[in-house]
Amino acid sequence: MKNFSKITLSVLIAASASLASCSNDDDKPVEKATIYERLGGSAMVSDPDNSGQMIEKGRLSFRKVVNSTIGLIVADIQSNASGNLQAHFAPLLAETGNTQATNIAKLSDNLTDFFSFNTGGTNAVNTYSGLNMVAAHDPAKNPRMGTKASSADYTKFEGYVGAAANKNGVASNTELYTDIVAVLESLRTPIVQK
Ligand code: HEM
Repeated sequence: MKNFSKITLSVLIAASASLASCSNDDDKPVEKATIYERLGGSAMVSDPDNSGQMIEKGRLSFRKVVNSTIGLIVADIQSNASGNLQAHFAPLLAETGNTQATNIAKLSDNLTDFFSFNTGGTNAVNTYSGLNMVAAHDPAKNPRMGTKASSADYTKFEGYVGAAANKNGVASNTELYTDIVAVLESLRTPIVQK
């Protein structure tokens, strides 16, 4: 993992492990569970998409949110509305057949690793091996990024992640949702490059 991801990681771990105001009987501060733990953590459950396989529940939660987000982005691109995200994903859209399917599956997996690992899912299954967030979103360094993202693009993208979280059982008026949005906001600066 490159430098920026490490910095992001320490920020996120600090944020998700921040101390709650209440104390336990021994008067020790009670640590707030990480986002990953609150999404199910490392408890093993059967994987609904891969029969006979098990998956960490936290990872499964993130995978569902990531795949719903990808669905919303595809719908955005297909809408042809002005300001849509098409230009950013043009290299991916230009691919066809198996190549496109494989790369979208890989993107889904990388996003699932990224969110899981950076919110407290630190078992090896969640190890992120993609580019750091600056390089991933710089077309000069990642030819799969069609054009740089603006702050407005970012806000839109974040809205899709929020809607995807809603769809998968995380309501907007919950502390969990607010904590997820805080993590997303911490990534605005490296990802927005225009
Ligand atoms: C919540 C904010 C975001 C996060 C956490 C995020 C995360 C990621 C990650 C982990 C990758 C994979 C990098 C790799 O495989 O090496 C990626 C790639 C990419 N991202 Fe983002 N991203 C975010 C926002 C955005 C925005 C706002 C746009 C454009 C509007 C965007 C467009 C892309 C594109 C086009 C790629 C390349 C796809 C590919 O390599 O298959 N991302 N992003």
